[in-house]
Amino acid sequence: MEITSKQFMTFRDLVYKESGINLHEGKEKLLIGRLSKRLKNTGIESVDEYLKMLKGDKEELMLFLDAISTNHTFFFRERHHFAYLKSGQSNNIWCSAASSGEEPYSIAIDCLEKGFKPTILATDISTNVLMIGERAIYPVERIKDVPSHILKKYFQNGHGRWAGHVRLKDEVKRMVTFKRLNLVTDAMPNQQFDMIFCRNVMIYFDNIVKEMLTNRLYNVLKLNGYLIVGGAESLSNLKHKYKYISPSIYKKVSS
Ligand SMILES: C[S@@+](CC[C@H](N)C(=O)[O-])C[C@H]1O[C@@H](n2cnc3c(N)ncnc32)[C@H](O)[C@@H]1O
Repeated sequence: MEITSKQFMTFRDLVYKESGINLHEGKEKLLIGRLSKRLKNTGIESVDEYLKMLKGDKEELMLFLDAISTNHTFFFRERHHFAYLKSGQSNNIWCSAASSGEEPYSIAIDCLEKGFKPTILATDISTNVLMIGERAIYPVERIKDVPSHILKKYFQNGHGRWAGHVRLKDEVKRMVTFKRLNLVTDAMPNQQFDMIFCRNVMIYFDNIVKEMLTNRLYNVLKLNGYLIVGGAESLSNLKHKYKYISPSIYKKVSS
């Protein structure tokens, strides 16, 4: 399949407007790969016809954004950030680009190990990954780096048709609520958080979107709350009110 540069630019503008994701030059291959799947699923043969459909069909737009988003994640990723999860200070946590649930469940387990049970809101733009998170069943390859004492305590082995899979125990599952939320176009949650994890998503955004997003997150963070971004991300070069604590850790110290 091929697309013209005009079509690429139309997709690029649409994706940017609807998700903040910056499909810069060089991302044509990625777009074509993911677009072909949507064309196959919808039975539409022409790219222009699909573009027309996207503009009027909210459901298809959501599925298209699902297809475009990159959902790579794993259990206990960048675990050193979890040092900031503290009893009495991290009661209400928002995992704002939660992908398929490995991140919020790792946070939940870390807190249980420290003897407390926060409520965790896990949101993402992609409904596919949210469904996986809600189901909380993962192929065993996904947990190969999870320490064995954690596996024993918080995961159950699948049997029968679920052989080769593990499931999070209900105690962990119950701590996490999954919801679709587009960080760029949706309203922020109607509550205040002690801690916001927004990790490994800003790499897909340009500085304009990053700055807008970090300032919106500021408004739903409690005073003395923490914003945690991914190790490859930073708020330098952006105008913001956070206090820099250490790489990827920012604190709200004034309202
Ligand atoms: C690479 S994953 C990172 C997952 C997890 N935070 C981690 O660090 O392992 C990026 C996630 O951001 C989500 N995402 C991309 N654009 C988004 C947006 N505008 N609003 C909410 N989530 C978005 C993607 O669907 C994807 O699941």
